[in-house]
Amino acid sequence: MVAPFELDDETPVAPGTILAPVIAAVHRRPDIYPEPDRFLPDRFVGIRPGTYTWVPSGGGDRRCLGSAFAMFGPHGGLGSSRG
Ligand code: HEM
Repeated sequence: MVAPFELDDETPVAPGTILAPVIAAVHRRPDIYPEPDRFLPDRFVGIRPGTYTWVPSGGGDRRCLGSAFAMFGPHGGLGSSRG
């Protein structure tokens, strides 16, 4: 952080502090993803995943450069298997 920041009402963050998201922890929050350890792909049907709660490719300035390329394979495969 380059300026004082409050993560929430009780957690001030001082300038100079490095903050890093823990993607696996975000994706396992049961309040966002009920039964987070179960493979339930239908949980994404008909919704747009949250910008800050579905971050497989990271975010911000250092977001994965290959994200679109990486998703092209799985999506193409699923699309063709569904006919
Ligand atoms: C399923 C496949 C992939 C996943 C889950 C993934 C995930 C990630 C994540 C989490 C980051 C860190 C983002 C951040 O710090 O906020 C990252 C960075 C990066 N990824 Fe990927 N990635 C994938 C595939 C690829 C592919 C196929 C390429 C290249 C063809 C690629 C190139 C990069 C590069 C260059 C960075 C560094 C970006 C930077 O630091 O500015 N990734 N990726």
